[in-house]
Amino acid sequence: MNDIIERIDAAVADAVRQAAAATSSADLEAVRVAYLGRNGLFPALSRGMGEVPPEQRRTAGQRFNTGRAEIQEALDAAGRRIAAGADAAGAIDLTLPGRRLPAGHKHPISRVADECVAIFGRMGFVAVEGPEIEDIYHNFDALNTPADHPSRDPQDTFYFPDGRILRSQTSPVQIRVMESHEPPIRIVAPGRVFRRDTPDATHGMNFHQIEGLSIDRGVSMADLKSVLQTFAREMFGEKVRIRLRPHFFPFTEPSVEYDFSCVVCGGKGCGVCKHSGYIEIAGAGMVDPAVLANVGYDPRVWSGYAFGLGIERLAMLRYRIPDLRLLYENDVRFLEQF
Ligand code: DAH
Repeated sequence: MNDIIERIDAAVADAVRQAAAATSSADLEAVRVAYLGRNGLFPALSRGMGEVPPEQRRTAGQRFNTGRAEIQEALDAAGRRIAAGADAAGAIDLTLPGRRLPAGHKHPISRVADECVAIFGRMGFVAVEGPEIEDIYHNFDALNTPADHPSRDPQDTFYFPDGRILRSQTSPVQIRVMESHEPPIRIVAPGRVFRRDTPDATHGMNFHQIEGLSIDRGVSMADLKSVLQTFAREMFGEKVRIRLRPHFFPFTEPSVEYDFSCVVCGGKGCGVCKHSGYIEIAGAGMVDPAVLANVGYDPRVWSGYAFGLGIERLAMLRYRIPDLRLLYENDVRFLEQF
C-alpha cells in the first residue's frame, strides 16, 4: 500500500518539476505524454491498482485522483506561462519603425504672435509682458484717457468688484515698462485683451494684440512709418503697401490708424477688403507728452511712437481665415491645417 502511494507521490513530484521547467509547448507535451498519456506512468499505476489490497484501495484511489489533478494543474499553468511568453515575444518586433504619437503644434494665434515678436526683434524691439488683470490707472488714466471716455464704460470693459479690470488693450504695458525703466525704450508686448463685444466673425470678447513702443531722443513719425512698413513687408511680402489715416487715440498725438494694402487681391479690391484695396490693421501715433509726463519722462527731451496690432486680424489675413470664431473653437480638424 505504502508502496503505491509513494510511487504516486514521486510521479507527481517529477511531473510537476518537469512541467515547471518546460520552456516550449513541445517540452510540455512530452511531459504530459510521459505521465498522463495512454502509455504514460499514471495509467500504468492505475493498472497496478489491482494488486492493492481491497481495504486500501480507496485511499490509494483518492491519492491517484488528486495526483493526476495536480499534474494537470501544473501542465495548465506551464502552458499559460509559455503562451504568454510567446505572445510577448511576438508582439515586440524590434525591427519595426516606431509608432509616431500624434504631436500637437502651435495654434495659429501663437504662431503669428511669435512671428511678430521675431520680426520686431530683428528691428531691436525686446518682447515684454504685462498683467491681464489691470488697474484703471494703467489701462486708462496713465494713458491720458479721460474719466468720461466711452471705452471705460462697463458696457465695454470687464470690471471686477474691487475696481480692477480685464485689460482692454495692451497699451498699459507701455506705462508699466516706462515706470520701471529709463529711456531709451524699444519694446513689443504681445498678449490677450478683453472687451465686452458680442462675438461675430470679426469680434470676440477676448483677442490678442501686440503693443509696440519706442522712446528716444528725436524720434519722429517717419520712424514709426518705416517700422510699420518694414513689418508689413516682412509679414506679407515686398509688395505690401501701408497707408496711415488721421485718427484719435487719447495716448498719442498725432494719432493714426494704419492699413495694409489687401494681401488677398493685392489692392485691386475684393470681398476681403470690402473692395477698398486696404485692410485696417490697428492704431499708432506719437506718444502724447502727457503720457510721458505721467511716467516721469521729460517730454522736452524724450519723444517716441507707439503702435498696436491685432493678432487675430493678422492671422486671418495670413492664413485666409474667414471667421475669427474658428480660432477659438479648438476644432482639431481646423487646427490641424496649420
Ligand atoms: N490700444 C489701441 C486699441 O486697442 C491700439 C493702439 C492705438 C495702440 C494707438 C497704440 C497706439 O499703441 O499708439 O485700439
